[in-house]
Amino acid sequence: MVGPDAIADAVAALRAGEVIGLPTETVYGLAGDAANPAAIARIFAIKGRPSTHPVIVHLGDAALVPRWAREVPHVAAALIERFWPGPLTLVLPRASSVLPAVTGGQDTVALRMPAHPVALAVLRGFGGGLAAPSANRYGRISPTTAAHVRADLGNDVEIVLDGGPSDVGLESTIVACLEGRVSLLRPGRITSEDIETVAGPLAQRLHDVPRVPGSVAAHYAPHTRVELVAHSVLGQTASAHVAAGRRVAVLAPSPLPDVPLAAAVVAASDAASYGQALYRHLRALDLAGADVILIARPGAALEWAAVNDRLARAATRP
Ligand code: TXA
Ligand code: MG
Repeated sequence: MVGPDAIADAVAALRAGEVIGLPTETVYGLAGDAANPAAIARIFAIKGRPSTHPVIVHLGDAALVPRWAREVPHVAAALIERFWPGPLTLVLPRASSVLPAVTGGQDTVALRMPAHPVALAVLRGFGGGLAAPSANRYGRISPTTAAHVRADLGNDVEIVLDGGPSDVGLESTIVACLEGRVSLLRPGRITSEDIETVAGPLAQRLHDVPRVPGSVAAHYAPHTRVELVAHSVLGQTASAHVAAGRRVAVLAPSPLPDVPLAAAVVAASDAASYGQALYRHLRALDLAGADVILIARPGAALEWAAVNDRLARAATRP
């Protein structure tokens, strides 16, 4: 899939200050040297992202954390021990050498060690930290395949490493370990309960700082309007739209509504499979030329928290 030559080319490009499409187990990242201001500027320019939004620094080895964080609380070390490499990002007090462009000018830095063989090979070859936001234009759906990255960013990136479809399919869980408190900033595959088994009870989510653009309500949105509805009223909602002359696309468990649909995807019944495929399905449904995408709201159990968070954002109009 991705051989040693491709890894070496990617590492050389990163050393030269270029940015690349990098597969991770969560979503694909747009990666550049986190210590090179020009590379960071390029990432923000390609994404069209406001420069005040911080990016995650990816590491190939947990031993590098003290170079980026001036303080690694015991609880952070325990979370790293338990969940790295994996879909967990930790927000810690930043080391003084970390570029303000990486942290959005904040006194904290977000760090993660991804569990993907290609990402790890690139990170280990590169040696340093790679800043990598999701490889989509600002506000759009995150990419979970190399083809998604190509479709979104086109000729703006020369190298996109194809590491296959992302296993998790949703962005990493973000946890802040600051001022003696542990709080959840973004839900992901690793649940709040998983975090609590290591860190004890989480503090109430902070609303002032730090900033998380994932917490801007309208994020991860398809172009087509998305409506979340209870499965029990899906059929009648779809019929009403069709009767009003609207073209309807549906993401729901079977049975699907018995009306003509512009597109339909049968949703998985377990949270992990649903989350893995969600962005791919949203992209496909967005291309169906429908007036509305109807999504049956999944259960409210904890394991669905990340899926429900992303669905709520997809259904929020900017
Ligand atoms: O799964 C992921 O985390 C993916 C892959 C590529 O690793 N990356 C990702 O990056 O989702 P991005 O930039 O799309 O989202 C990163 C999130 C943002 O919501 C950002 O605000 C937050 O991390 N973040 C970064 N640094 C932060 C900081 N110092 N304090 C609080 N939040 C921070
Ligand atoms: Mg993103």
